[in-house]
Amino acid sequence: MQARLWVTSAAIAIFGSVASAQDASNLMIDGVPMVTEIAAPSHMENVDTIYSGWRFRAPETQALEMDDFDNPAFVFVEQAEEIWATEDGSQGKACASCHSIEDFAGLRATLPRVEDGKLVTLEDLINKSRVEHMGAEPWKWSSGSMTAMTALIGLQSRGMPMNVAIDGDAAAHWEAGKELYYQRVGQLDMACSNCHEDNYGVMIRADHLSQGQINGFPTYRLKNAKLNSIHGRFKGCMSNIRATPYAEGSEEFKALELYIASRGQGLSVETPSVRN
Ligand code: HEC
Ligand code: HEC
Repeated sequence: MQARLWVTSAAIAIFGSVASAQDASNLMIDGVPMVTEIAAPSHMENVDTIYSGWRFRAPETQALEMDDFDNPAFVFVEQAEEIWATEDGSQGKACASCHSIEDFAGLRATLPRVEDGKLVTLEDLINKSRVEHMGAEPWKWSSGSMTAMTALIGLQSRGMPMNVAIDGDAAAHWEAGKELYYQRVGQLDMACSNCHEDNYGVMIRADHLSQGQINGFPTYRLKNAKLNSIHGRFKGCMSNIRATPYAEGSEEFKALELYIASRGQGLSVETPSVRN
């Protein structure tokens, strides 16, 4: 009872009292319409409609994502195109030696997925190729090369609906992710759900709270002027509630990634998105 009272007053201290919903703008990127609002998947018990984080941003931030020429993330996409064509590792190969980038259309929308019982993300697949097929060092999870490459590969799926598998051998991972999503942690004793499910649409400090969707990742943030990975973002939110974050690439964050991806089923992949 006491814990509950404490949480309530902490929540009142954090959330402003002015609730304003997501806006009604339509997102077109270079003339292609994106789905930023759709009925929530049936597994979501407490939410009827899901929204892309783009719908919660200020008009000037929204505008940056509507035209690839204005989108600052494309500097990094161009860097990735260079890396794509550059030989690396003991085998003297480049990504381009074995793949054509268009072959990755659709991949982003279906990740993470289970392979041999293990949950794998886009970062895992890229590093598997680097190590096993190129004889190269794996990239760090949120390194410049990795986030650039996940942007270039994710871009091939832009406009496609998020569509991760959550049944079969993914079910146990999905359950684990769901548990983490609703688990209160840290000094503020809050769960992801307390902000991104119970309070989306309200102002928190100077920020407009979204549903915490990951359909736009990696995302260029104006705050740090670089591409941010999904796990990097999870880490930041955990630190903000004064919890000790899980490591990038940990089983916990992969499970959380699967669960959150499944809360965005049907939203368009917006990679690479722009947020504040
Ligand atoms: C020598 C050939 C080779 C090179 C070079 C190579 N790959 Fe691969 N890659 C493969 C093969 C083969 C697979 C199929 C799965 C497996 O066995 O790993 C694959 C799978 C992948 C996948 C998963 C695709 C899917 O649909 O499941 C991604 C993503 C990927 N590679 C990215 C890259 C990137 C990025 C680079 C450069 C940093 C790269 N690969 C370099 C051979 C290569
Ligand atoms: C105290 C409130 C709070 C909690 C708790 C919280 N977040 Fe956030 N989160 C924010 C704020 C504020 C932002 C930036 C505005 C926005 O996009 O909602 C954000 C942004 C995000 C985004 C980026 C959304 C986008 O469109 O780019 C993701 C993903 C996210 N959070 C995931 C999580 C996860 C996972 C957890 C639980 C581990 C969590 N958050 C817990 C406040 C919170």
